[in-house]
Amino acid sequence: MYSEYQHLIDLSDYPVSWWKKVVDLGEEIKNDPGKFAHECDGKVMATLFYEPSTRTQMSFQTAMIRLGGQIIGFDNPANSSVSKGETIKDTTKIVSNYADVLVIRHPIAGAAKAASLTADCSVINAGDGGHLHPTQTLTDLLTLQIEKKTLSGLTIGMCGDLINGRTVHSLCKALSMFPDNKFIFISTPELMMPAYIKDIIKANGSTYTEMNSLEDAIGQLDVLYMTRIQQERFASEAEYLAQKNTYVLDKRKMQLAKQDMIVMHPLPRVDEITVDVDDDPRAKYFTQAKYGVFARMALILTILNDKKSSETLRGKVYPGVCCKNPKCITNYEHYLPKSFIYSGDHTLLECEYCDDRMLI
Ligand code: NCD
Repeated sequence: MYSEYQHLIDLSDYPVSWWKKVVDLGEEIKNDPGKFAHECDGKVMATLFYEPSTRTQMSFQTAMIRLGGQIIGFDNPANSSVSKGETIKDTTKIVSNYADVLVIRHPIAGAAKAASLTADCSVINAGDGGHLHPTQTLTDLLTLQIEKKTLSGLTIGMCGDLINGRTVHSLCKALSMFPDNKFIFISTPELMMPAYIKDIIKANGSTYTEMNSLEDAIGQLDVLYMTRIQQERFASEAEYLAQKNTYVLDKRKMQLAKQDMIVMHPLPRVDEITVDVDDDPRAKYFTQAKYGVFARMALILTILNDKKSSETLRGKVYPGVCCKNPKCITNYEHYLPKSFIYSGDHTLLECEYCDDRMLI
């Protein structure tokens, strides 16, 4: 299936050269934002946020305003026709006729892909459940390029809720495409990185190890990417409480880290980094959030100027086969065409919306 508009649902839909182009443009904008102040004069961006957000939504809105464009949208679906039971298909179809680009965040995996099937403008995925968050990854790549001066040869520690954290999923997929990056995943057994992400890392030729102690890992790292335990994605309060406070980065642990290690975090922080770490020059999470505006300005410009078409679904319908992931959009919006791709050794079918795999 094809769409005549260019979308960003998953960074893997584009070659690394495309991401580099966006990141380099982000750096150029950071160095001279005024030069781009009228690039989107007369353009409209719609933000459809079905799930809470501070940074992603506001940095997108700021990005469009700083490019000279205007913004519309909702951040509380209760105030829109969604509360009357409107489908993603209908909301997207309507709003995409009011805007040049549509930015969507949704609690269910695959929702942005679903939106791209019917939108009459470009769609950008601003986070779909625990699945992906490609624009946070562009922000993270820009942060690494500016603060570490490289995207290769890094030892990256990712710590916290690795099973539910969409930011770390997208970032692993991206950084494993650059040479000589090594990952150290620091989590409890319950919150380990999903198998499909580890398989992608291996297939891309990068390596990973899994540890459960932040103290033991921190001295080896060039980058420590902390994450919040994603309370809203747990089945029960008790399961969340069992994981809460497992990993806390504090001043004492920072003493074990290299002098040039940087600390990143997509934010919001709950209690996984103590506030006294904020004054350490290696703490880059607030700077990272600031760079998010430049990364999103670069993305909006690229998407609107390139005017390319996109392949929205590449897989096939297998009669009678449905995705088994209860958090997949195809199990909520039943009109969506199912689409599966053979993965790996052809014993698994992968849902094209949420990447969940099932044995065949
Ligand atoms: C992240 C998200 O929404 O996935 N935040 C963000 O976009 N800056 C991380 C999180 O919510 O923990």
